[in-house]
Amino acid sequence: MLLEINNLDVRYGRNHAVKAMNLNVDDNEIVAVLGANGAGKSSLLKALHGLVPVHAGSIVFSGDDLTMKSSAERVDSRLALVPEGRQILVSMTVHENLLLGGYRRQGSTLLDDIESIYERFPNLGERKDSQASVLSGGEQQMLAIGRALVARPRLIMLDEPSLGLSPILVDQLFELIKNLRGEGISILLVEQNIKKALEVATRGCVMELGSVVLEGASDSLAKDSGLVHAYLGTQN
Ligand SMILES: Nc1ncnc2c1ncn2[C@@H]1O[C@H](COP(=O)(O)OP(=O)(O)O)[C@@H](O)[C@H]1O
Ligand SMILES: [Mg+2]
Repeated sequence: MLLEINNLDVRYGRNHAVKAMNLNVDDNEIVAVLGANGAGKSSLLKALHGLVPVHAGSIVFSGDDLTMKSSAERVDSRLALVPEGRQILVSMTVHENLLLGGYRRQGSTLLDDIESIYERFPNLGERKDSQASVLSGGEQQMLAIGRALVARPRLIMLDEPSLGLSPILVDQLFELIKNLRGEGISILLVEQNIKKALEVATRGCVMELGSVVLEGASDSLAKDSGLVHAYLGTQN
């Protein structure tokens, strides 16, 4: 198993955001985490990336216990996060943002990898010396994903990547997610676009108030959409 999440608990004071969560992601899998606003999805990903403390439970990635490790060490283990809202540095150039994604790496292979990001996303290549603030929303999402790829991840966690994108860009994004899997990268995908997420995912789960209330193969979850909608409110 690539990622094992065992009884994971995240608390903010008395607010219990993630409750004894268990979830696994295997090599070559896309696992969707669905749920309404406030369900605990971002808290889960932040805990997996060491950005909020783990109150209880453990996180094992490629056989290493990461529970107490820093974010930087998790990047070294090749676990990457594309955070909610993209979080790119808009006053820096596209190229500088990509260099930051490789801050734990050294040498010329980093620049080769950045070149391959420009080949994958030609719009970024054309604007590599421009401030990231000039990028469209879709390009900013590509930059956020490119920055994660520069760390050569085995697993990428994406937090609501389709939020705010036009339908055409949403389709391109999900195409990219499928391609990444084809390249051997596993994906933990937090989404509110249930339909699209379950189309690309192998398995999925639904969170409500910090707990997994539904999980299974994505085709069976998609058939169960009445139930899924019940947990997600009216957005979809
Ligand atoms: N930094 C924080 N401090 C206190 N409470 C927080 C913080 N971040 C999130 N929460 C709370 O934790 C719960 C889960 O939030 P979050 O993980 O952002 O959910 P989601 O990503 O599913 O919308 C919510 O009740 C939210 O208000
Ligand atoms: Mg969130």
